[in-house]
Amino acid sequence: MEYTVMLPAAGSGRRMGAGENKLFLPLAGKPILVRTLSVFQQDPDCTGIILAVRPDERDRIREMLADHGITKITAMPDGGGERQDSVRACVRAFIAAGGGDEAVVMVHDAARPFLSPRVIRELAETAQEHGAAIAAVPSKDTVKQVAAGVVQSTPDRSTVWLVQTPQAFRADLLAEAEEKALSEGFLGTDESMLVERLGHPVRVVESTYDNLKMTTKVDLAIGEALLERQEE
Ligand code: C5P
Repeated sequence: MEYTVMLPAAGSGRRMGAGENKLFLPLAGKPILVRTLSVFQQDPDCTGIILAVRPDERDRIREMLADHGITKITAMPDGGGERQDSVRACVRAFIAAGGGDEAVVMVHDAARPFLSPRVIRELAETAQEHGAAIAAVPSKDTVKQVAAGVVQSTPDRSTVWLVQTPQAFRADLLAEAEEKALSEGFLGTDESMLVERLGHPVRVVESTYDNLKMTTKVDLAIGEALLERQEE
């Protein structure tokens, strides 16, 4: 099932404390951004990559793409102040390039280099059939809702899933969800939330626990350990 992937890569990496975009940090010798892009570069079903970047990082990223043989980039729009703004820039670039309404598009955090080809495939197929599908894993921990340091409630753990990216959609559905959120001033933490607000059901595809987002230094250490294990 063919798809286009949209990668927001225009964050600042503040929580990583690296003093620059965390996506430039090396993970076992290769920048995080390159590791994530390589997964899609190597997937024959991926027909194009739209990458949202910070304008001041555009030249450095172009060089990085050339150095590492990443050739599938079809557009590099400017990202925005929030992740959602960066994703919307990708969606608009997709439409401007003539992307079809019924095409499958996938949004994936550039900071998650460990995604599995099996999950990508299942997401694309499910999104084509049902319109929306997200990668998630069952929660291993008990989750509490907390306010001002006091537990408010405990959802039944068997119903709690931890959501990741990729999140895959029929292109027209994602575009409608993004524009509605913008016009209503709604800021979500993932694309699924925006599609849920349209009342459209979102399917869940079981992903893997190693599809970590490189957010803090601890994630980098775990990421290096995962790569060492893969190379053994
Ligand atoms: O900061 P966080 O790890 O949640 O960001 C997830 C992804 O969204 C990262 O790949 C980051 O580069 C991207 N992002 C973006 N534009 C922003 C903020 C984050 O493209 N304004």
